[in-house]
Amino acid sequence: MVMHPEHGCVGYFSLLTDSINLKPNKELKQKWESKGIRFNALPALKIGRLATHKDHEGKGIGRTMIANILLAVLTSIIPKAGCRYITVDALPNAVQWYEQLKFKKLEKAKEHQHNVAMYLDLEELFTAFINKIKETVGDQGHASTGHPPFYYP
Ligand SMILES: CC(C)(COP(=O)(O)OP(=O)(O)OC[C@H]1O[C@@H](n2cnc3c(N)ncnc32)[C@H](O)[C@@H]1OP(=O)(O)O)[C@@H](O)C(=O)NCCC(=O)NCCS
Repeated sequence: MVMHPEHGCVGYFSLLTDSINLKPNKELKQKWESKGIRFNALPALKIGRLATHKDHEGKGIGRTMIANILLAVLTSIIPKAGCRYITVDALPNAVQWYEQLKFKKLEKAKEHQHNVAMYLDLEELFTAFINKIKETVGDQGHASTGHPPFYYP
């Protein structure tokens, strides 16, 4: 929950573990197969519910919640458990909002589903995050021990 000292709860989100089934998502499946990796599904973290209080929309609270989710994934989840994607079953009127945040629609969303299945690939973000750290602290092992400056799987 995002709490404001005067207004109380101005936003909230919930997260749950998830996976993307690659079978119906040919583009993603081909991407992995081109690297010689034949997985049926890939690990993800799902945004279950995310909303900003009506009176406080358009103040950046939604984006801040997404930023906090991404930061938590990069720093707390990925170092401990595999997670390649963020997923969300977006309400139809929020699809464009997620698209602005680089989420893409999953292929072949079920016809009867009201919500639109979307995903964000964490690769680019994670690589940029690690490269920035390396750029800051250097990528060379310690001169006497050869130990790298940090370990990030
Ligand atoms: C979608 C939602 C989470 C956005 O939250 P927010 O706190 O208003 O978002 P932010 O303030 O971070 O972003 C606002 C920007 O997104 C744009 N935006 C807001 N809602 C949008 C929508 N539904 N579609 C496209 N753009 C949208 C605004 O125009 C604004 O753009 P600007 O910065 O260029 O002016 C909020 O409107 C909401 O809770 N909606 C109802 C529940 C919902 O749809 N949840 C998401 C589905 S899981």
